[in-house]
Amino acid sequence: MAKMRVVQVARPGAPFEMVEREVPEPGAGQVRIKVQACGICHSDSLTKEGHWQGIQYPRAPGHEIAGVIDAMGPGVAGWSVNQRVGLGWHGGHCGYCNSCRRGDFLTCQVAPQVPGISYDGGYAEYVIAPAGALALIPDELSAVEAAPLMCAGITTFNALRNSGARAGDVVAILGIGGLGHLGIQYAAKMGFHTVAIARGTDKEPLAKKLGARHYIDSQTKDVAAELLKLGGAKVILATATQGEAMTTASGGLGINGKLIVVGAASDPLELSALFLLGGRRTIAGWPSGTSIDSQDTMAFSALTGIRSMNEVFPLERASEAYDRMMSGNARFRVVLTTGK
Ligand SMILES: NC(=O)c1ccc[n+]([C@@H]2O[C@H](COP(=O)([O-])OP(=O)(O)OC[C@H]3O[C@@H](n4cnc5c(N)ncnc54)[C@H](OP(=O)(O)O)[C@@H]3O)[C@@H](O)[C@H]2O)c1
Ligand SMILES: [Zn+2]
Repeated sequence: MAKMRVVQVARPGAPFEMVEREVPEPGAGQVRIKVQACGICHSDSLTKEGHWQGIQYPRAPGHEIAGVIDAMGPGVAGWSVNQRVGLGWHGGHCGYCNSCRRGDFLTCQVAPQVPGISYDGGYAEYVIAPAGALALIPDELSAVEAAPLMCAGITTFNALRNSGARAGDVVAILGIGGLGHLGIQYAAKMGFHTVAIARGTDKEPLAKKLGARHYIDSQTKDVAAELLKLGGAKVILATATQGEAMTTASGGLGINGKLIVVGAASDPLELSALFLLGGRRTIAGWPSGTSIDSQDTMAFSALTGIRSMNEVFPLERASEAYDRMMSGNARFRVVLTTGK
């Protein structure tokens, strides 16, 4: 039996360990992906630290997968071996309840399908996935370029394109990490008056290079006041990992402004009811999207030249690579490669 390398977590909070396993066979409706690259997302900490109920360990994290179809199980139509495909947070539908079909995996009561959470993800040389979860990678994108678009890319692209903001509107991106640095690029290419908000001044030159017209250092500036000077934000896309930062920035929402929460902050947000109703302001959450949204994200990125800035590590250095992402020092996504 052929063997593969897998980086797994044995139990919540345990260190990463590289193990050898048999290369799995795809079942009915499934394909086997030979993984070439897998991005490391902050949400991988859900698996690493056990912050998601019901994960069965050992589990290999990773939901930003890019590779090629290597084998297909019975009943797979419309796909062929050697096609280049991506696999993201949306890893299939349970087929019974309507939650995951609507993009809500948290309330799926049957079998939510998220790679790296419900089944083994891309910190491995091969992954088995439902064919319905695949997205075609355009020729213009390498596997390393495509991988981060499968979560960081789709989440920001899809949230912005469904936000209701129109060309010229003030759109602020709060937090410049894996998601945020792509969010700035999408906002700029969609024609928004793009504002980047982060801690400190060191990210300012890069944020401007990525398309931000303004940069607000949240450590020395009053974020809400700065946004209001620009007329108030139509949209604040909050990718930061702290609810407190979202609360502070929300004061910069203009009339009809919308705070879109994509960062999975663990502390609560506090918003005044009068502030919301006075200016018809809203707050909304946004989960990533489905496989066709992933395909749209990659197509738009190829069309407009948007790329994730990546630090690349080989699979065997996954633990170091994960720590680098969690440190906030990575510029800006960390991507694992398998050499396949
Ligand atoms: N909604 C979805 O579908 C979805 C999809 C993917 C990820 N997520 C979530 O989105 C969040 C971001 O993920 P990521 O992979 O982009 O993480 P990341 O690369 O670690 O970036 C997070 C960024 O947030 C910034 N930040 C944290 N607190 C801040 C504050 N108080 N003010 C300003 N910036 C602050 C950090 O800045 P510093 O460098 O200053 O620390 C860091 O650059 C995570 O919570 C993740 O779980 C959600
Ligand atoms: Zn993610």
